[in-house]
Amino acid sequence: MTTEIRRTKVKDLLAMQAGCEVLVKGWVRTKRGNREIAFIALNDGSTIKNIQIVVDKNAETEAILPRITTGACIGVTGELVESLGSGQAVEIHAKNIEIFGECDPMRYPLQKKDTSFEYLRTVAHMRPRTNTFGAVLRLRSQMAYAIHDYFHKKGFVYLHTPLITASDCEGAGQMFQVTTLDLNNVPKNKKGEPDYSKDFFGKQTSLTVSGQLEGELGATALGEIYTFGPTFRAENSNTPRHLAEFWMIEPEMAFYDIKDNMDLAEDFIKSLVRYALDNCRDDIQFLNDRYDNTLIERLEGVVNTEFVRLKYTDGIEILKEAIANGHKFEYPVDWGTDLQSEHERYLVEEHFGKPVILTDYPKDIKAFYMKQNDDGKTVRAMDVLFPKIGEIIGGSEREADLGKLEARVDELKMSRRGLEWYIDTRRFGSCPHSGFGLGFERLLLFITGMQNIRDVIPFPRTPKNAEY
Ligand code: 4AD
Ligand code: MG
Repeated sequence: MTTEIRRTKVKDLLAMQAGCEVLVKGWVRTKRGNREIAFIALNDGSTIKNIQIVVDKNAETEAILPRITTGACIGVTGELVESLGSGQAVEIHAKNIEIFGECDPMRYPLQKKDTSFEYLRTVAHMRPRTNTFGAVLRLRSQMAYAIHDYFHKKGFVYLHTPLITASDCEGAGQMFQVTTLDLNNVPKNKKGEPDYSKDFFGKQTSLTVSGQLEGELGATALGEIYTFGPTFRAENSNTPRHLAEFWMIEPEMAFYDIKDNMDLAEDFIKSLVRYALDNCRDDIQFLNDRYDNTLIERLEGVVNTEFVRLKYTDGIEILKEAIANGHKFEYPVDWGTDLQSEHERYLVEEHFGKPVILTDYPKDIKAFYMKQNDDGKTVRAMDVLFPKIGEIIGGSEREADLGKLEARVDELKMSRRGLEWYIDTRRFGSCPHSGFGLGFERLLLFITGMQNIRDVIPFPRTPKNAEY
């Protein structure tokens, strides 16, 4: 009878003492050697690090070694021994090797010399097997955990808001329609428009751009809630910072004013960055050493600095001054227009050299639900702007006054009827409240130092691209 040994993950093996028999399973990263021995670097995804397998060459191993190529999947039993080579404390002296899956070196997509991110996006089904995407995807998972941990420790309720909805929270008309109508034979009403009463939900529906409106229903009952889920935007922006499907974290809090909201946003981001530095060191160190040796410095910088808090109007003054001093922007700077990413980055990277929370934007460039200031021109909005990213958080104090909210809805020619459920929060026991949305992938861009948002989500959805 043979005694079965349980598989140990590479991460755990590397922390173990030498001198025991182990079983490891994973994918071959490299194989090299000489006439007497072969060295296999094996990775199983549990860590950025590989375990080294040492194979004595003899008639038996010579027969299978040629089948063990980069990308092949194998299981190895052997003794965990102290490593003589540098770079690792332990390695495995192989006794038995099982090949689960061979990997044709001529056809394996990751065998190519081209390891550019552009190329890897064309083989995104395989790229999690690379060191870089392994690191990014582990970080993504860790940060999701850290987000839940942060809010649960604060007593926030995790609220599941719907993905299919009939309301356009941001009012930007960037929604993907959800329908089961036959597009080749759309039923029409008397006006000749599509008859949505015949559609699945009996009305026109779309994928949500934000869970905020439903989040407010939660906050005005449960006190403090957060959502964390996918959101969808049909904006035709082919930029390194936009996705058509991205994940958003949206806390919403009763009795918070804009200042409380800013305090929470700042503490939240700092805690997440701190968590990454404390718990994901190997992966961050790898990304720092491989691509951007100022990454760790930048992360530590954010944790240890106080964010600037600045009114939009003052931000515009700074930008105009920059222009007067010869700075060239592609887009004009005018009070009343939205800031372009070049403007945001100028404020953050060049003028202040640290994150900036910009507040009190003109009401005409912000959504209907924001609390109106007494000046009649601005609203209590807050955007958190980050180095290299631009806007990472968008939020506001909400308009709690029934009359003002209704007037704004009418002014924007939105349908009040479709929003009665939302307006009810102001009708029955209205309360001051605030919230914000953090783009999960924008956070990951910052934490990983990656340049393109398509490289921090496993299967990116962008205009003209929905592979897998
Ligand atoms: O500023 P936004 O549009 O705000 C809202 O949706 C509010 N309802 C949030 C709230 O107050 N609860 O989006 C929030 C954040 C942005 O700051 C950005 O980080 C991210 O979501 N974001 C995107 N990320 C990737 N791709 C896109 N197309 C994004 N659009 C917004
Ligand atoms: Mg925004």
